[in-house]
Amino acid sequence: MAERGQAGAVVDPIAGSPVYPVGSRVNERGHLEIGGCDVVDLAAEFGTPAYVYAEDDMRERARSYRGAFERGGMEFEVLFASKSFPCTAAYRLFAEEDLSVDVASGGELHMALRAGFEPGRIHMHGNNKTDEEILFAARSGVGHLILDSFDEIERCERLLEEPQDVLIRVTPGIKPSTHDYIQTGQLDSKFGFGIEDGLAARAIERVLGSDVLRLTGLHAHIGSQIFELEPYTLAIRAIGELAGEWCKVVNVGGGLGIAYAAEDEPPAIDAYVDVKVRGVAEVFGEGVRILVEPGRSLVGNAGVTAYRVGTVKEIPGIRTYVAVDGGMSDNMRPMLYGSRYEALIADRAAAVPGSLATVAGMHCESGDVLVRDAMLAEPAVGDVLVTPATGAYGHAMASNYNGVTRPPVVFCRDGDARLVVRRETYEDLTARDV
Ligand SMILES: Cc1ncc(COP(=O)(O)O)c(C=O)c1O
Repeated sequence: MAERGQAGAVVDPIAGSPVYPVGSRVNERGHLEIGGCDVVDLAAEFGTPAYVYAEDDMRERARSYRGAFERGGMEFEVLFASKSFPCTAAYRLFAEEDLSVDVASGGELHMALRAGFEPGRIHMHGNNKTDEEILFAARSGVGHLILDSFDEIERCERLLEEPQDVLIRVTPGIKPSTHDYIQTGQLDSKFGFGIEDGLAARAIERVLGSDVLRLTGLHAHIGSQIFELEPYTLAIRAIGELAGEWCKVVNVGGGLGIAYAAEDEPPAIDAYVDVKVRGVAEVFGEGVRILVEPGRSLVGNAGVTAYRVGTVKEIPGIRTYVAVDGGMSDNMRPMLYGSRYEALIADRAAAVPGSLATVAGMHCESGDVLVRDAMLAEPAVGDVLVTPATGAYGHAMASNYNGVTRPPVVFCRDGDARLVVRRETYEDLTARDV
């Protein structure tokens, strides 16, 4: 049961938290509820670990993006950056919400097509697309290939049979404050063409002279998990220097940050869209079509991961390790970026979290730690432990390290839970052997 606050009101620590999916709460049994489903029951039904998503959360955020652009008054396309959650059901959901999609490999393109995206609404990235991927994309009829290098320009000219709309990816030389590994807009980057070194201008000239490549505009993505808005304005101004009559499409990337902890305060989708629309209108005029590519801000807070606690090890005077049945194989981000997460015992979701513990994974690495300092409500073996805000780049980066089978994906809505990706089996682990 939810705790009573000082004035006797029921305190629900989940309902007001920006970290959990929209509509989450503590239910009458004192359990965490996502999309109307009791997470303790979900863990029993689908097993653990499991990725649990609230469908309404993703739909609401997609509608916020579209709504903000509709108010902005310019022609637009919102592309789901599918690297954040490459799952057919998610592609399908965002297609239903009238979004477009960005894919960064042949595999993501395959999933987008399989989910029913109209090919013209698929835009293809990649800093080293193979011949096969270029042909697959072009023959499928993708909206744009986003060109990343001179080698790729040559490869496309050699391979393409029909004219293809393309954008040129520019690194505008802007460095937002985020982790080094997820900054992409600085000059020293493996992505795109720099402005300062003159390569972007040369690439534009080169593609404008092409018979088969039709240059319609520019692309810039400055990084991910960004809380400031000014770098976007600066990036738009920087790429604006390259624009000419030919520039009808401006893709300003993704990058909007999300709350991983209750105290995180990312900008609202409205404010983020407003800055991008105003920036593009000011620099390129209102006649261009503006594209954005949000990933994390569409799916990150929509999903949580549910684990089962297997051991609680107290090292007197040092720390308590709470080990769960997943870890770096289902969430690489803590090891990759040192990312911080919250954790919650779903069975006692409203209890005061009085125990400081380290939530460790089950892999053979000392660094396999999901949450270094978590405040938990008396964790015990058998509890369901949840880490929120794992909807982006969790499933996407999952691996089979230690022969672990990858978790299922469960979509919840109005109290109904549907399995959209089943758990891998041991047989799956040997299915590719020859
Ligand atoms: C080109 C491009 N667009 C969009 C995104 C999505 O970024 P985010 O998930 O931060 O919105 C990325 C992420 O790395 C990217 O590389």
